[in-house]
Amino acid sequence: MNKKDKKAGNDAETGSGLPETDANLLDKKFSRRDMLRLTGASGLGLLLGGSGVGGILAARQASGPAVPAIAPVQAAAADTIPFYGIHQAGIITPAQNFLCFASFDLTTTKISDVRKLLEAWTTAAAALTAGTLIGSMNDNPNLPPTDTGEADGLTPSKCTLTFGAGPALFDGRFGLAGKRPVSFTDLPAFTGDSLEPQWCGGDLCVQACADDLQVAFHAIRNLARIARGTAVLRWTQEGFQRSGSADPSGGTPRNLLGFKDGTGNPDVTSDAEMRKIVWSGSTDGPAWMNGGTYLALRRVRFRIEVWDRSSLSDQEATFGRHRQSGAPIGARDEFAKLNLEAADASGRPVIPPDSHSALAHGDGSVQMLRRSYSYSSGMDLKTGQLDAGLVFISFQKDLMKQFVSIQQRLSRNDRLNEYMVHTGSAVFACFPGVREGGYIGEMLLG
Ligand code: HEM
Repeated sequence: MNKKDKKAGNDAETGSGLPETDANLLDKKFSRRDMLRLTGASGLGLLLGGSGVGGILAARQASGPAVPAIAPVQAAAADTIPFYGIHQAGIITPAQNFLCFASFDLTTTKISDVRKLLEAWTTAAAALTAGTLIGSMNDNPNLPPTDTGEADGLTPSKCTLTFGAGPALFDGRFGLAGKRPVSFTDLPAFTGDSLEPQWCGGDLCVQACADDLQVAFHAIRNLARIARGTAVLRWTQEGFQRSGSADPSGGTPRNLLGFKDGTGNPDVTSDAEMRKIVWSGSTDGPAWMNGGTYLALRRVRFRIEVWDRSSLSDQEATFGRHRQSGAPIGARDEFAKLNLEAADASGRPVIPPDSHSALAHGDGSVQMLRRSYSYSSGMDLKTGQLDAGLVFISFQKDLMKQFVSIQQRLSRNDRLNEYMVHTGSAVFACFPGVREGGYIGEMLLG
């Protein structure tokens, strides 16, 4: 089904231009008896006006013994990453165990609907990241519950939800063309790309990360459900890395090629570095992106069977690093500086200049924050090979100067190209953080 068909199908399904939010459900399906029952217990003002976690918790507490009360949430406080803040969570947050990434197409042409969707997503996201049921109608036998329930009783599991807008949002449908950041466009074609439309683009994205896959999946499923009538899923991709319990030392995770991946990342605890590399500042572009950042996603499939037949020294020359320690070739310490000048007795560079690390590093002046996950999506039935690889995700304040300039170098000369193929691609402008009482993307749509 192409994009147009999907939109038509979705509109026909709901017949409404509005998201199927709690408020809509209340309007449509709440009987007077239901209303009296709940207002008797908790007060209608609370039910309708109780946006955010406080309201949801209060509604849950008041709605009777069938719904677990506030205690599990308090017990899970240590497992919670705050949703509100200057920046969105899920960017400099240490990567959780699992990723569930979703790209959405808007099916509405009304900016007011987009605003309503982002408001509804904000309310839901605050609940989802706090580990509470979303909505306030989860114990009424006569209605579909507002929360799908599979995360009921689970801890927040460090769930973060990160929202972004694709370049397509600024294509004129919503009167936002004038607000597009100057260099924010789809990525150019790179040498060797083999992109499949089913893994590319989108109007909006949600990156859900959590230490539990069911929690991350639950978040995406419920956000997609809330979006019905306004936006439809375009593609999703799950990802994983070694879990925290499998590596209590918290060392750099290894990708599916067996190498430590993330060693050369900038220091996320340094505000100065993050301002220089990741966060869009007040003089970097439109005011609505101040405190936001740009996300580049590439779905990279590994030619695992070819890699597995190559020798250890070939593999190490491909990355320019030792497999076991993660150190640059010739060094012992994983975090030793890449010395691209070092030569062996015959005058050959110790670290091959066309190795992935050497090319990605360049002269060291351009950096980005990588926050990738491995993926495994079964096997390719045509070839019998595994469809597995990397959901490469990076955050940077300028896509062209950072991601594009590095990827141009890599796509032409990287030794790693022999072992991988880029099958998906998308970029999103991740909004600044949400203040309590505000909503995602408020500075753009408000
Ligand atoms: C299949 C895809 C990829 C794999 C398996 C991969 C893996 C790695 C590994 C193992 C390292 C060395 C350890 C480290 O510093 O993390 C590395 C470094 C790096 N990679 Fe990749 N990478 C991939 C794609 C990309 C892409 C698409 C980009 C950006 C366009 C990129 C940018 C970088 C950067 C900036 C570094 C750090 C270089 C430095 O030390 O300064 N990588 N990558």
